[in-house]
Amino acid sequence: MSTPLEYIQARQDEFKEQLFQLLRIPSISADAKYKKDVHRAAEFVAGQLKHIGLDNVSVEKTDGHPIVLGDHLHAGPDKPTILIYGHYDVQPPDPLEKWETPPFEPTVRDGKIYARGASDDKGQMFTHIKAIESFLKSGTELPANIKFIIEGEEEIGSPSLVPFLASNKERLKCDMVLVSDTAMFAKDTPSITYGLRGLMYIEVEVTGPNRDLHSGVYGGGVQNPANALCEMIVKMKDENGVIQIPGFYDRVRPLSELEREAYAKLPFDQDAYNRELKIEEAFGEKGYSTLERVSGRPSLDVNGIWGGYLGEGAKTVLPSRANAKISARLVPDQDPKEIFRLMEKYLHEIKPPGVEIQVTEHHGGHPVLVDLAFYGLKAAAKAFKDVYGKEALFAREGGSIPIVADFAKTLNATTILMGFGLNSDSIHSPNEHFHLKDFERGMKTSARFFELL
Ligand code: BES
Ligand code: MN
Ligand code: MN
Repeated sequence: MSTPLEYIQARQDEFKEQLFQLLRIPSISADAKYKKDVHRAAEFVAGQLKHIGLDNVSVEKTDGHPIVLGDHLHAGPDKPTILIYGHYDVQPPDPLEKWETPPFEPTVRDGKIYARGASDDKGQMFTHIKAIESFLKSGTELPANIKFIIEGEEEIGSPSLVPFLASNKERLKCDMVLVSDTAMFAKDTPSITYGLRGLMYIEVEVTGPNRDLHSGVYGGGVQNPANALCEMIVKMKDENGVIQIPGFYDRVRPLSELEREAYAKLPFDQDAYNRELKIEEAFGEKGYSTLERVSGRPSLDVNGIWGGYLGEGAKTVLPSRANAKISARLVPDQDPKEIFRLMEKYLHEIKPPGVEIQVTEHHGGHPVLVDLAFYGLKAAAKAFKDVYGKEALFAREGGSIPIVADFAKTLNATTILMGFGLNSDSIHSPNEHFHLKDFERGMKTSARFFELL
């Protein structure tokens, strides 16, 4: 008989091969062309849940992509019930030509698995499936009741999962949620994420004259929508990186002295950060450190901007329209809907004469902070310590997992964010990868976490 950790140790190749099968499925949730593949990925995950011995495995139809469920509720009512969440959908792989090996042909190089979704989130999600398998197949009693919920729409804002939670409260009832979809603080430096930012995302269309115009014949006499859009974007932040939308900061919970001290103690190397990004210097809201700026404070960025002539050479044209995608990362207690209204109002106020604007909202999400006193975090920290041989840090992160706020609101459950990825894994970018070592340690940390509960 082997222990769960021995079981995992002995099956590294087998688990890697199984993960590869999932990584080969291009489950791109944002692109309707891949709908069949997204379904195939859901079926594959369900197959895995059945294979490891879970009960009630189902692929739940939704208005969008399916949700995969499965459970193992045999530990008894005095034992905690853990809901394990992850997502099997991935971001589009573009730009394709920047990949050294194709995004859906997983390859190992220098101890890393290269594939879209390797780190976000197929590889990380898989660690928990294998951890549970290590109990069920090694004949070790699982010291907790387990429910899995793996969705296929995280990368598009979880539109189906939000209502699904609300209408399946009893079925998903749990004492805590466990998620591995974040990053560790640094290589070989495990950390528990206790804060995620929220998101508000808009698209602005600026329209001017009824057609593209000759910039010599009309230039100087007509408002240029591209210029007008840039003018508006400039007015969104001042030179100190402070967002200028009236009311934007009203609900921002200030960082306490205690929290700022904790931020300052984290082993962050500003020079290494600059070097890795090939930037002369960092930039952000005056008065805050980089770590504070990217996780404890809100931010606002243009994600895309276009209009006018984008082809080769010079075309003398005054465009009739210009567009931008703009998003803000939010911190507690900002509300994405409210920030959208403030932003829309401000854009109409600062709109220059001679153009019209239309503002539309994309999916967003609420920010979260996890209560550091929650008992489950102790088991998570100890599990990290036992497997990585290093004390886990506690850190906030700048990314968003919108459904985590719903776990708190709808299921009244605290989420443990136990990430095994790294910020350098290039998630959402070309050449996304996941360190094999972290895949292995992730499975072991998850198994150890259940042992400790
Ligand atoms: N796993 C990420 C979120 C993340 C990444 C959190 C790194 C912390 C560290 C997730 O899949 C993601 O990409 N979320 C989106 C939000 C969504 C609404 C598209 C994001 O943060 O942009
Ligand atoms: Mn993710
Ligand atoms: Mn993602």
